[in-house]
Amino acid sequence: MIGAGHDVVVIDNLHNSSVEALHRVAELCQLSPCRHAVDQDGVHQAWETATGDRLLRFINGDIRSPEALDGAFRASGGGDVAAVLHFAGLKAVGDSIQEPLSYWHVNVEGTRCLLEAMRRHGCRTIVFSSTAALYGCPQELPIPESACVQPANPYGQTKAAVERMLADTAASEPGWRMARLRYFNPVGAHPSGRIGEDPNGVPSNLFPLITQVAMGLRSHVQIFGSDWPTPDGTGIRDFIHVMDLAEGHRQALDLLLTTDEQILTLNLGSGQGHSVLEMIEAFERINGAPVAYEFAPRRPGDVAESVADSTAAQQLLGWSTTRNLEDICRDGWAWRQQNRHGYRSRR
Ligand code: WQD
Repeated sequence: MIGAGHDVVVIDNLHNSSVEALHRVAELCQLSPCRHAVDQDGVHQAWETATGDRLLRFINGDIRSPEALDGAFRASGGGDVAAVLHFAGLKAVGDSIQEPLSYWHVNVEGTRCLLEAMRRHGCRTIVFSSTAALYGCPQELPIPESACVQPANPYGQTKAAVERMLADTAASEPGWRMARLRYFNPVGAHPSGRIGEDPNGVPSNLFPLITQVAMGLRSHVQIFGSDWPTPDGTGIRDFIHVMDLAEGHRQALDLLLTTDEQILTLNLGSGQGHSVLEMIEAFERINGAPVAYEFAPRRPGDVAESVADSTAAQQLLGWSTTRNLEDICRDGWAWRQQNRHGYRSRR
C-alpha cells in the first residue's frame, strides 16, 4: 500500500504478530524510524521518508477498544481516512473448535467495533479478510462465490457472520464500498526473505509447520488424515502465494476507490489443488530439505478438498495468481532460513 502511494496506520494487539514485521516493511520501503513516535493518539512507532513524511504509523491496540480505534483514525488525520483494510482476527480452524467464544469475540465483536468507529470517523470503504473456510464441505469444485455458505467450524462461522454484518451495514445507509476477499490457503513469504509468517507458539497451519520441521525446530509434521477421499488420502487445498494475495488486496482497493457504493465478494485462490503430501514432497524437492511426517487422525472441522474458482476476481479486478508452488516453497524456505526464530531473530 505504501508503494502504491498510501499513508498507512496499523492497529494491532500483537496477539499473533510482531512490530518487528513493521520495521521490516519500513526497511523495504526505505523508511526510517521516527525518534519520538509515541504521541497523544497513542502512536507507538512511526516511520518516515528522508524528507520527514510519516507514511507508516503503528498503534499497539485492540480493535475491540473504541478508544484505540479512535486513536488510529485521529493518527490518520481524522476524516481523511480513505479506507480500512481489516485483517484483524483469529484464524486457525483447529483452535476455533477449542475456543469458539474467543473467535466470536475477536472476529465478530471486533468487526462490529471497527464498523462503529468507521461510521464515527466518516470512513465507509473497507476491504475484509474473509475465508474459503466459510464454504465448509463444498458441493462443487472448484468453488464459485455463489456456492452455499455452510461453515464446518467456528472459524468459518465467524467469518460468515462478519460477511453478513457487512452486508447489513451497507444496506442500512448509503455510501459503503466493500470487498469481502475469501482467501484460500495463504502461504509463502516476501521474496526478500525479510517478511514472512511467524505464528506465536505451535503453528496451527501446515506451511509454517513444514518450514519449522525442515529447520529442525520441530521433529515432524502430523498429517491429519490419510483416509480422505482424495488420490493420496490426504487433504487437498488451494495454496496461494501471500504476495499474490497482497496484490489482490491492492487491486480490490483500487477498484473500490474509483467506483460508487458496492459490495465485492471474491475468491482469492490459484484454482489448483495440492494435497498435504504433495506440498511436503514439493518442498523437499525444491529446497533439498527433508520434512519428517507421521499420519494422525483427521482434525475436527477439516474438509477433504477446497479449491477456488477465481473467475470473478479475474473478470472484475484483472487479478490472477502469478506465482506457483515452487515460488511458494522457495520463498517460504528463504524466510525461515534467514530468520530461524522468526521476528525474534536478530535483524
Ligand atoms: C491445510 C491442510 C490440514 C496442519 C487455512 C487457515 C484459514 C484460512 C484457510 C485464510 C489441511 C493439513 C494442517 C497440520 C496437517 N485461511 N494439516 N497437519 O485449515 O485449510 O485453513 O486456510 O483465511 O485461516 O486456517 O489450513 O494449513 O491448517 O491446513 O495435516 O499440522 O493441511 O488437515 O488438509 P486450513 P491448514
